[in-house]
Amino acid sequence: MELRKARPGNDLISTLVAVEKDGERLSVEELIATCVLLLNAGHEASVNGFGNGMVAALRRPTTMKPLREDPRGVSRTALEEFLRFDSPLQLFERTATSDTEINGVAIRAGQKIAALLGAANRDADVFDDADTMDLTRETNPHIAFGAGIHFCIGAPLARLEMAVSLPALIDRFPRLELAGEPVRRPTFVLRGYDEVLVTG
Ligand code: HEM
Repeated sequence: MELRKARPGNDLISTLVAVEKDGERLSVEELIATCVLLLNAGHEASVNGFGNGMVAALRRPTTMKPLREDPRGVSRTALEEFLRFDSPLQLFERTATSDTEINGVAIRAGQKIAALLGAANRDADVFDDADTMDLTRETNPHIAFGAGIHFCIGAPLARLEMAVSLPALIDRFPRLELAGEPVRRPTFVLRGYDEVLVTG
């Protein structure tokens, strides 16, 4: 950060260092926290979204077929279905700022609620055959990237990463198969795998 302050370049840290609003700048702690958040949020969710989706698809040979046959054509809908079907970020918490009511349940100011994004992404009122993975699903209003003012700032990057990685993986390993039972990581909020053994 000191280096970028002294000699700004065309990069994210230089931009963050230069941010100024009403005469205020980000403190060193805020800059570090933002970089850590971007690295964690940016890396972990994409990696686990990709892994979760790939495992689910490889477990279902008929589902996987269109992706194997036309990886470039299908990757756009496949990546959205990866994120819907087995969402890497299962829940986010919110704290009520005032007494309110959600669906008949009273929530007091200060109480926390957990929004189960993964469950909403399997809502049978919203998705046809919600529990079926369909990599060619055209209408897919999932909320794996959240909603409202905190909608994921990295969604376009994550979509691009997955759209590039999917065909690249299938091109490189056209006969990709699971070789054993993948091992889930023990956490729930950031859902993913610790280990996925495959043969190519
Ligand atoms: C498949 C990949 C990703 C998924 C599923 C995902 C999911 C989410 C979700 C659900 C939220 C909303 C959190 C909330 O409502 O409190 C969020 C926020 C956020 N995401 Fe992502 N994300 C992904 C990739 C990325 C990437 C690549 C970046 C950055 C490079 C990123 C940075 C952020 C940041 C900074 C926020 C906070 C936005 C705010 O509070 O205004 N995410 N993400």
